[in-house]
Amino acid sequence: MRTQICIIGGGPSGLLLSLLLHRRGIDTVVLERQTREHVLSRIRAGVLEQGLVALLKEAGVAGRLNREGFEHDGTRLAFGGETLHIDFRRLTGTPVTVYGQTEVTHDLYQARDEAGCKTVFTVSDVSLSGADTDHPRVSYTADGTRHTMDCDFIAGCDGFHGVSRPSIPQAVRSDYEKVYPFGWLGVLSETPPVDDELIYANSPRGFALCSMRNRHLARYYIQCSAEDRVESWSDGNFWEELKRRLPEQAAANLVTGPTIEKSIAPLRSFVTEPMRWGRLFLCGDAAHIVPPTGAKGLNLAASDVHYLYHGLCQYYEDKDTVGLDAYSARALARVWKAERFSWWLTNLMHRFPDQSPFDRKMQIAELEFLRENEAAQKAMAENYVGLPY
Ligand code: APR
Ligand code: PHB
Repeated sequence: MRTQICIIGGGPSGLLLSLLLHRRGIDTVVLERQTREHVLSRIRAGVLEQGLVALLKEAGVAGRLNREGFEHDGTRLAFGGETLHIDFRRLTGTPVTVYGQTEVTHDLYQARDEAGCKTVFTVSDVSLSGADTDHPRVSYTADGTRHTMDCDFIAGCDGFHGVSRPSIPQAVRSDYEKVYPFGWLGVLSETPPVDDELIYANSPRGFALCSMRNRHLARYYIQCSAEDRVESWSDGNFWEELKRRLPEQAAANLVTGPTIEKSIAPLRSFVTEPMRWGRLFLCGDAAHIVPPTGAKGLNLAASDVHYLYHGLCQYYEDKDTVGLDAYSARALARVWKAERFSWWLTNLMHRFPDQSPFDRKMQIAELEFLRENEAAQKAMAENYVGLPY
């Protein structure tokens, strides 16, 4: 079989890239390891930068987002008994849009179905060959049969545990990683969110976050030990601990109820360089991971897709490789700034097990500077709403 772009991974990166290219008449095939149902069962952050909203509109898949997504003009930071509002709209002129990643993925699959885009689900033993030649090839097993896909380019959109990144020789690749000494215990509950904006709390007992999917579906997180297990947290224990970490008013307003999802995620910062090797291009989580604190995971995948999509269009439409040749440097320039912001906000809002009294004083000084200095608030707002592509 042959296609122009073989996309490994049917998560947000692969789906959005495939649909955008299809709109420009460029043929793709998406190879996905899981079933569609499994992909759609994932619960992930739902804070969209306007750059991603614009890309979804360009892909013709923003209808439900426009109807059901809602804009947030700011967010709240709770610390030391006070709550600081960071006003994105006043400081940057830009809001963020709250709309679950699961919904984005659902909308992308539906739009690709309607457009006749091809996805092969439950593939296994995917292997790449010839990525450093002009004739790259992807082999895989589907329905018990071994297949080979010849293509012009391979897009490695297969996430942190995929096969694409390891296909780049170690001698060519540099990996940068930081693993945080805690995790996030997250729950979803069919209850009204505690506030109309998100609340990030740095409490003596640890970090907490109050988020939402819509006005009837709340999403909460508490920092937990990296060794913690979901089974050791009853709903009652979770709600009790969350209340202890929230500002008084929020704790009083919190509506609790049975959780419909409960999971623990590790926190890691990771980047691999370069994001290109020959005719293989890495995109999204395949190339980088951020701690969820800054809600940058999906939004960084979007800017990678933007650069790669335009580079591929330039190649096929103008026979010009400038965009492809610049892809890795351009994507990494934005990736590292988002990595910094996510690392900074994680350090600002969490209690580290080995935190010294001096470290704690630094956290307090940074939070007080943020409270008192409009330029510091603007810098945070600019990063949170998303730096330019
Ligand atoms: N072959 C085919 N598909 C694979 C393989 C493989 N060898 N390995 C992984 N996959 C699939 C996974 O099943 C998943 O559906 O690749 C997809 C990768 O999707 P994500 O992990 O969601 O990564 P990405 O599309 O880059 O989206 C980034 O998703 O994980 C969140 O926090 C992350 O919000 C960010 C966004
Ligand atoms: C979420 O809604 O899941 C969410 C929101 C903001 C974050 C992380 C997660 O920083």
